[in-house]
Amino acid sequence: MEVRTTDAGNVQADVLVVPIAEGGSLPSGLDAAVASRVKALLDDGEASGAFGDATLVHFENGGVKRVALAGLGKRVDADAVRTAVGSAAREARRVGGTIAYLVDGSLPVSAEEQARAAVDGVLLAGYDPRHWKSEAPNDTKPFETIVLAGVDGFAAEAATRAARVATWANRARDLSNSPPNELTPETLAERASELAKEAGDVRVETLDRKQIEKLGMGAFAAVAQGAHNEPRLIVMHYAPKGAKAGVKLGLVGKAITFDTGGISLKPSLNMENMKGDMSGGAAVIAGLCAIADLDTPLNAIAVVAATENMPGGGAYRPGDILRAANGKTIEITNTDAEGRLVLADALWYAREQGATHVADFATLTGAMVAALGDLYAGLFANDDAWADRLLGAADASGDHLWRMPLHPRYRRYVNSAYADMKNASDLREGGPALAAEFLQEFAGDGPWAHLDIAGPAFLDRPRGDYLWQPGGTGYGVRLIAELARSLAV
Ligand code: BES
Ligand code: MN
Ligand code: ZN
Repeated sequence: MEVRTTDAGNVQADVLVVPIAEGGSLPSGLDAAVASRVKALLDDGEASGAFGDATLVHFENGGVKRVALAGLGKRVDADAVRTAVGSAAREARRVGGTIAYLVDGSLPVSAEEQARAAVDGVLLAGYDPRHWKSEAPNDTKPFETIVLAGVDGFAAEAATRAARVATWANRARDLSNSPPNELTPETLAERASELAKEAGDVRVETLDRKQIEKLGMGAFAAVAQGAHNEPRLIVMHYAPKGAKAGVKLGLVGKAITFDTGGISLKPSLNMENMKGDMSGGAAVIAGLCAIADLDTPLNAIAVVAATENMPGGGAYRPGDILRAANGKTIEITNTDAEGRLVLADALWYAREQGATHVADFATLTGAMVAALGDLYAGLFANDDAWADRLLGAADASGDHLWRMPLHPRYRRYVNSAYADMKNASDLREGGPALAAEFLQEFAGDGPWAHLDIAGPAFLDRPRGDYLWQPGGTGYGVRLIAELARSLAV
């Protein structure tokens, strides 16, 4: 996607998107002829400023061929712009070509933020998950260029960055949406290598079952032991010249390419969506690529634990006691609490590799979805400054994040009568917090954060905003790019 800028009076585009706040005034830069048409559409009730409401009309005026009125709703923030532009792009998906967004200086969102959000909206709403149709759908033409009308060079640069990052987020969506027969741990590792080549300056290492066992990763190995598809520990290194000294970002991802629950088998309804249980890994892989693609001057490592969680004669059992790489023992009480087990060893490995600031991304608990739904991920952190940095990155990126409590008094939920801890509790309460407490046992020293992304990473149904398709959302990629940028200064 090419990003260009122009002044408001000089727009050349197949579609000009005009943002309309509910009950607000029209953008000041609007050409008089367009403005009067827009006003007529609003007066006649054919368009509204309602959130996500988009109306496309053919209206040739100067270099503009069509106008899309895009509703921002009442809460006008960057997400409203993403959604408005996303809806307009969706309405105009048969048109393709060049889409322009007219920045409105009277909105309570800065020009830079509007420019970034408009780019996000076009790219993320333009994502098409129908890769597996035997006949390629002919109802959509891609937008090749986005023109930002009425912005300065600073905003243009931010928008160009946003386009790259959103493209990486869409790559993560491809990974999440890939069916589990295609996307095995092995093919995920191959995809990571291919993506790393595109990003440039990223070195990829993959460890196989033998190496995982040899490193003493008994928790990861136990989850993998029931799977015929071989596990992989995918490690990606980015160490650019001129990187900030003394800091190494450690990104850790859960990549269960399919989670059946194992012996503690899940019910069959919607089990197909457990192909998305590798979305944390996808975020971390594409996120590291985005960091490299933007030439962020920061050392970073991604550690992705990839395996299936399968039942079968070789599978691990409730009652098993395992030893993780850091030497701690774990009693298994539920084989469906597998994410924390693979993360335990991956967290240890990230520290082993010298990560100073660690963040793990995982579709970890159904209870997190019950608490925060499909919009916010939950954040657990052992360090307030690190938590604030993550919350800031979330805010700037549109990957919403809400802090949850990490407290040692949740530890009793995972106390075991036999081992150092158990992996799940039989009490149906506090699931996300006890999982975080479990993970902390393996997080080592230094700032660490756990992001439970089970809600926003993979949608069972569209969300009514710029994510109007079900499936993978690329949650975390935009956040990671922003986080690295903030950590690099
Ligand atoms: N991958 C699931 C969590 C999940 C559930 C993600 C729904 C997305 C949507 C995870 O491995 C899991 O099964 N968690 C269990 C934990 C329990 C057994 C302690 C859960 O949430 O039920
Ligand atoms: Mn599970
Ligand atoms: Zn899982």
